[in-house]
Amino acid sequence: MRTHQRHVLMCTGPRCTDNGVLSAAMFAVLGEQIDARPELKVKRTRTHCMVACKSQAAVLVVYPEGVWYRCKDAAAIERVVAEHLAEGREVTDLVFHRLGEGDVGLALEEMPNV
Ligand code: FES
Repeated sequence: MRTHQRHVLMCTGPRCTDNGVLSAAMFAVLGEQIDARPELKVKRTRTHCMVACKSQAAVLVVYPEGVWYRCKDAAAIERVVAEHLAEGREVTDLVFHRLGEGDVGLALEEMPNV
């Protein structure tokens, strides 16, 4: 296994999006984005349900920061890569939970379209 600085866990389970179909497509986008930036040293892992389901938004967690995101589409994934992984800035409007803090941010229906 290569050295990595961050680990991104992303749910492709059946409840984040319909049968995980959109989540699986977004997981592929995440891989493309990470592969295009090897200097970021990010490890990506697909998971099943992380018991944080909300319909139509995939759950994605970035460690070691412990920031939990809900991503509605590929554009949201691209923002997490460009802003959090590349620049070290949380994408605050997509965050719903933080390690050590608990739930934060807006409810899914209040989240802006990205
Ligand atoms: S199916 Fe994704 S968190 Fe439950």
